[in-house]
Amino acid sequence: MHKIKTAVLISGRGSNMMAILKATQNNDYPAKLNIVISNKPSAEGLKKAEEFGIKTVVLDHKAYKNRHKFEKDLDAHLRASKIQIVCCAGFMRILSPWFVKRWEGKLLNIHPSLLPKYKGLNTHKRAIESGDTIHGCSVHFINSELDSGKIVLQKSIEILSDDTPQSLSERLLIKELEAYPQALKKIANELIYSK
Ligand code: GAR
Repeated sequence: MHKIKTAVLISGRGSNMMAILKATQNNDYPAKLNIVISNKPSAEGLKKAEEFGIKTVVLDHKAYKNRHKFEKDLDAHLRASKIQIVCCAGFMRILSPWFVKRWEGKLLNIHPSLLPKYKGLNTHKRAIESGDTIHGCSVHFINSELDSGKIVLQKSIEILSDDTPQSLSERLLIKELEAYPQALKKIANELIYSK
């Protein structure tokens, strides 16, 4: 079976990356995880990926003179691995219009809110403080505006009366770990069948 070569970009814990990795181990899954790239040398997700024999690369953004040089290197690594889909998963760097254009239609992100609500940070706190009763996560394409690209898939949960931002984020993470592999499967299949 032809599998779409996939990269996951992380900055931290890497639980969404692990959910994608586990999904890709299924023979019928249409994508393969070829490389995990982190902009933070200390990202916990790096070790987890290495334990599963996945190639990892650290591109410490602080070591670069500017965003463009960092992104040129990132792009070069992705192209060297012949990557077809890039999944940002807790990758806390804003990507420039140059990079977004180069990967247009192949660049996904997961965001912990029901977009278009709560773009940016502190989504759980903002949902609670707004008195929302429903919260959720969105897998979406990245475009040149923050958290604004076409939505691929959303999952929602109820906000309980005693929820804190922490408890809400923990319960939402369970849904995120279902959502990202499902969304990637959909996009990878679309890519396979469009050929
Ligand atoms: C996830 O909750 C993801 O939705 C969020 O960061 C976390 C990463 O966790 N992403 C954003 O806030 C992007 N704006 P993980 O590293 O364990 O997957």
